[in-house]
Amino acid sequence: MVRLAQQSRRRICALPVGASAGGASDVSVIGRESLVSRWMCLVSSYSPSCLFSTGTGCAGARDEESDPEPLPLPLPPPTRPVLVRDFIRSALYDPDHGYFSKRSGSVGVLDRSINFNQLQGRNAYMRHLHSLYKKHDIAWFTPVELFKPWYAHGIAEAILRTANLSVPLKIYEIGGGSGTCAKCIMDYMMLNAPPKIYNNMTYISVEISPALAKKQLETVGDVQSHLSRYHVECRDASDRSGWGNVDAQPCWVIMLEVLDNLPHDLIFSPNQVSAWMEVWVEKVQGSGEISEIYKPALDPLITRCIEITGMDKQNVAHDNQVLSSLKHVWSKAFPKSRRAWMPTGCLKLLDVLHWALPNMSLIASDFSYLPDVRISGDGAPLVSVKKDGRTIDYDSYLDAKGDADIFFPTDFSMLELIDHHCSGWLNQQPGSNSSRPIKKRRTITLDTASFMEEFGLPSKTRTKDGYNPLLDDFKNTKFYLSVPTYNAK
Ligand SMILES: C[S@@+](CC[C@H](N)C(=O)[O-])C[C@H]1O[C@@H](n2cnc3c(N)ncnc32)[C@H](O)[C@@H]1O
Repeated sequence: MVRLAQQSRRRICALPVGASAGGASDVSVIGRESLVSRWMCLVSSYSPSCLFSTGTGCAGARDEESDPEPLPLPLPPPTRPVLVRDFIRSALYDPDHGYFSKRSGSVGVLDRSINFNQLQGRNAYMRHLHSLYKKHDIAWFTPVELFKPWYAHGIAEAILRTANLSVPLKIYEIGGGSGTCAKCIMDYMMLNAPPKIYNNMTYISVEISPALAKKQLETVGDVQSHLSRYHVECRDASDRSGWGNVDAQPCWVIMLEVLDNLPHDLIFSPNQVSAWMEVWVEKVQGSGEISEIYKPALDPLITRCIEITGMDKQNVAHDNQVLSSLKHVWSKAFPKSRRAWMPTGCLKLLDVLHWALPNMSLIASDFSYLPDVRISGDGAPLVSVKKDGRTIDYDSYLDAKGDADIFFPTDFSMLELIDHHCSGWLNQQPGSNSSRPIKKRRTITLDTASFMEEFGLPSKTRTKDGYNPLLDDFKNTKFYLSVPTYNAK
């Protein structure tokens, strides 16, 4: 998704040099279009709307003129009240109306890699992006696409350095988009790993979108020998029934820009002290509009998420009596409602992954921060649509009808808590006095530049004057690595 840094908009939301997410001065909290426009004014004379030229096509996938991809019909309003996560799931993944289901162009594909070493610097890079957008007429590119093959090669190298190579390498990728990551990782193993690693490896893609599952097979199929080691399962990775039996073998799970597209729930409190309520949505009688309803939080995923993330501790019941009375008085006099978005889709997915693949090592990358969010609530998403060649953000998530990408920032410390919670805890050692649970995972969060400096080949994405978009522009994305404790080196 934006997957282009700020320049390419969405998923990329990269910040220019000197800017920092959350900083006060500058372009920091600028993202996407506004950042692009300001940035582009600074560095070139291109129009951002050209940079983000519209289209539903997927370069390299179809012939736009002879085989236009039909747009799905808008998602009808729910016929009965549903939780916000179910509304979001339909808007993104409904088989007939969902944003990802029918459009292979929801994830853009470059037909060839960018030769960064031949570009002079940032201006030349921006010009190049401009021409790519113009030529491909796609929605946006993700980093794995924009920096192919180097981004995926960095991930492959991280796996090679950390994996137990005495067992056959097994990689699952959830939400593989166009298949670029899979192909580049398999290329890397074929060319750089000892032959037995490539020969014995399997790579399984679990992809919810039929259009993207098809595209992945085409991409990987470019190299004939990959096909006997690769297969795609078109299903929802967070549905436990799709995984069959538990597979206790060590394996890797890769998720790039998937967490941000997982359904989230919304919780609400009318003031600073009342308990959180869960938000449902329903169709307003006699109109096509949708409105919110608030109910006591009873849904098991929501209540677990509130507990794991410590949101319940914000409740007044945990304060001492004096503080508690003061807060009550204050909230009566100056009530201020609160809204927060809960990563219940992430909780569900990690629950299932830890159950199905108890010895998995996980590599996930995503946005730690999103600029210019117009929707209210902590951790709120961007809801973006392409219209007439321009990217427009909706003010309400309720406006998304399968035409819009809905993507959330990831709170990586929350992700870590959820990961530990879903992996369970090791039994206490007999005789141990400690009452603290023992974690089953070793985890680390790295910013993209640190990850790529450690495992990638940063020289490949450096321009002649030293500017390196992968290291310099992706300040709002991070990598999360989580391995079973015994597997950590
Ligand atoms: C924004 S795209 C990222 C694609 C690719 N990883 C990349 O970085 O270019 C999100 C991907 O996750 C897939 N996806 C989202 N939820 C999923 C789920 N529950 N199970 C499997 N795939 C899912 C989408 O269909 C899409 O391929």
